[in-house]
Amino acid sequence: MLDFSYYNPTRIHFGKSRLAKLNQEIPADARVLLLYGGGSVVRNGTLADVRQALGERQLIEFAGIEPNPSYERLSEAVAKVKAEGISYILAVGGGSVIDGAKYIAAAACMDADGWAILESGGRCINRSLPVGVVLTLAATGSEMNNSAVVTRVATQDKMPFASRHCFPVFAILDPTRTLSVPAKQVSNGVVDAFTHVIEQYLTHPVNGKVQDRFAEGLLLTLIEEGPKALQDPQNYDVRANLMWAASLALNGLIGAGVPQDWSTHMIGHELTAVHGLDHAQTLAVILPAMLAVRRTEKAQKLLQYAERVWGIEEGSDEQRISAAIARTREFFEQMGVATRLSDYGIQADQVPRLIAQLERHGMTALGERRDVTLAISTQVLQQCL
Ligand code: NZQ
Ligand code: ZN
Repeated sequence: MLDFSYYNPTRIHFGKSRLAKLNQEIPADARVLLLYGGGSVVRNGTLADVRQALGERQLIEFAGIEPNPSYERLSEAVAKVKAEGISYILAVGGGSVIDGAKYIAAAACMDADGWAILESGGRCINRSLPVGVVLTLAATGSEMNNSAVVTRVATQDKMPFASRHCFPVFAILDPTRTLSVPAKQVSNGVVDAFTHVIEQYLTHPVNGKVQDRFAEGLLLTLIEEGPKALQDPQNYDVRANLMWAASLALNGLIGAGVPQDWSTHMIGHELTAVHGLDHAQTLAVILPAMLAVRRTEKAQKLLQYAERVWGIEEGSDEQRISAAIARTREFFEQMGVATRLSDYGIQADQVPRLIAQLERHGMTALGERRDVTLAISTQVLQQCL
């Protein structure tokens, strides 16, 4: 096992009755920025419940955080936070609203423009306003981690950052809030959480038995519960299991002490920035191709994955690896997320543009061994067609 330091300070309140914890978590004298997206939380009643739980606190609302939150829109919120003397940011929504909140909270504490956060990967952050979360979509794990992804629309840059100052103080995970999530976003959430586990699990063995078995448990849960959420969308237990699995998939626990890949995510960010695919759509396309191209380097873990996650025990090593990759693709397709670039109208002539983006963003040595060069990324993208 690799050396590690592990820290996660986010307090979780999980279940049907937990929204009322807002009153306990947020100081009574706070000036709160209530941040949300395109209106789903208005339509499903969550915003009204949040307002009620906050009682007499001073609230300023800021709506319109887009999926793949933009630097442009977030900058307007940063100006508002500074002008209004906001002391607490409450994100009500999915990963985009939460990521937006993290950016706003850090940028509002800086004199310089907030884009420096993205340029430094978060290293320039030395303080942040407190962020609380009411989660409405099981997917990213942002509610319980210290990272975020922001897009600068004008320049087509979708960039991640992370900082120890960016963990939410608390997150309320009430699965009933996710009952209104449309099928497409349920599917996206399952594919995203699944890929988060794979990025931290399917590398090379370091004898991290606890991490591996936690990861396999999360994958099996997503495989079991994901299709159920599509067939039986009002099932509370299914939503509860998906919600907790997605948070645990990316709260640092399964990734501590093991190698991590993240090449699928980094290539995926370019696909979103240039072609506007949903985050999970990019992962469903790239992951099967990435595993196929890197099957030799990942052979041992692919064989373990084949056996323990998919129950594949027959055939030669090569056959079992091929079968595991095929099952992964089938699972994404079963969840309704297409796995070929051509399904999204993207042809071979677009590959050089995506590679140029990776180069511009310094994504030239990706993966758990930093050996995913631009040549390998090109090969992966060609396999995605
Ligand atoms: O904007 P509203 O109207 O709220 O609608 C949203 C949005 O259209 C809707 N939605 C959310 N909760 C709902 C709901 N609709 C009905 N009922 C509800 N309860 O779902 C749509 C997608 O929301 P979004 O927040 O964009 O989805 P997701 O949670 O998948 O977040 C995606 C973003 O997170 C980033 C992605 O890159 C992307 O920008 N990621 C963040 C990570 C992190 N911070 O750790 C890790 C991930 O790898 C990912 O990169
Ligand atoms: Zn993701």
